[in-house]
Amino acid sequence: MDIEFVRSRFIKHFDGKTGNVYTSPGRINLIGEHTDYNGGFVFPGAVDKGIMAEMRANGTEDTVMAYAIDLKDRVDFKLSDPNGPRASWARYIYGIALEMKKLGVPVKGFNIAFAGDVPLGAGMSSSAAMESCFAFGLNDIFGDNKVSQWDMALAGQATEHNYCGVKCGIMDQFASVFGKAGCLMRLDCRSREFEYFPFKPDGYRLVLLDSVVKHQLAGSPYNDRRNSCENVVKHIQAKHPEGKFETLRDCTWEQLEEVKEEVGAEDYKRAKFVLGEKDRVLGVCEALNEGDYEKVGELMYKTHEGLSKDYEVSCEELDFLNDIAKENGVTGSRIMGGGFGGCTINLVRNDLYKKFIEDAKKKFNEKYGHEPKVYDVVISDGSRKLC
Ligand code: GLA
Repeated sequence: MDIEFVRSRFIKHFDGKTGNVYTSPGRINLIGEHTDYNGGFVFPGAVDKGIMAEMRANGTEDTVMAYAIDLKDRVDFKLSDPNGPRASWARYIYGIALEMKKLGVPVKGFNIAFAGDVPLGAGMSSSAAMESCFAFGLNDIFGDNKVSQWDMALAGQATEHNYCGVKCGIMDQFASVFGKAGCLMRLDCRSREFEYFPFKPDGYRLVLLDSVVKHQLAGSPYNDRRNSCENVVKHIQAKHPEGKFETLRDCTWEQLEEVKEEVGAEDYKRAKFVLGEKDRVLGVCEALNEGDYEKVGELMYKTHEGLSKDYEVSCEELDFLNDIAKENGVTGSRIMGGGFGGCTINLVRNDLYKKFIEDAKKKFNEKYGHEPKVYDVVISDGSRKLC
């Protein structure tokens, strides 16, 4: 993706003038899945794939003219229209513009053309990349860059909640805004404190295998998982009126056991996964500090098992990719992101890499009639202005 490509489309589809160009990345997550909306820890990093947008105030009060370059789709809408546009991609623009307005940015009409190379539906947060890119641009064009990075991330999350129907956590928008080349970030989603962790595993690399099965987070399955977790918290709170239980982060294993019968088998399993995952992220941090990548990998496999059996967000294709990783002696492998399709993330020794990829392509193709896509992970910078 390059600036000239986006610029040429911006010029062609609007009035020939140029604007400013912004970019925001997608993300990977080493470990800590479905923990963000439970107040737990996540361990993401931004990648070298993302969204690039050219934007310019168009002098109108509230007319947005938007062009999705990859889809060759043009949508114009007014920010004052209470329903907003119908096209799902345009709702991200509408939503973020209204959320930025809520933060005090005097957003007026603007033109925007954007393109992306973060694969859609792969669990790499193409939607968060859009939200943070557009937020960054609006903050620059209309807001004197007064809105903080955290507020832009939160505005992205609010866009998902209020305009796109996904009650997501904060991990994706956080990673897209705060990413730093060469570093993973450990974020405590309850306190919002985070640390950069330089990630250069000697002798290993990270690679994603994309099953190309598309997940659909909007609507039920993702939100259902969240509801289950919140239900367990409610029951624990009711049993312990003396305490303050906001998320599963505030709950112990013993408290979960106390409500096991009343919350039912399904919600119990979901919460069990989340409590385990919180401990696994901390385990990975310790292992990274000690340079113990075999331990990191072991915890990744445990996460996969939990996501597959207890949280039930895997699918046949992802379990199959995980099995191939195991058979090839890959150090760690698991579903990445929300699940229901998308990618596995694999920590693999350099000397096994080639054989693993060949084997995964061959076996997956034999079974599903197409190869998985392979993305080598390059940990990169977060949202920024390009020109
Ligand atoms: C999606 C959501 C995130 C997070 C992950 C699962 O990517 O947007 O907030 O919950 O799923 O870890």
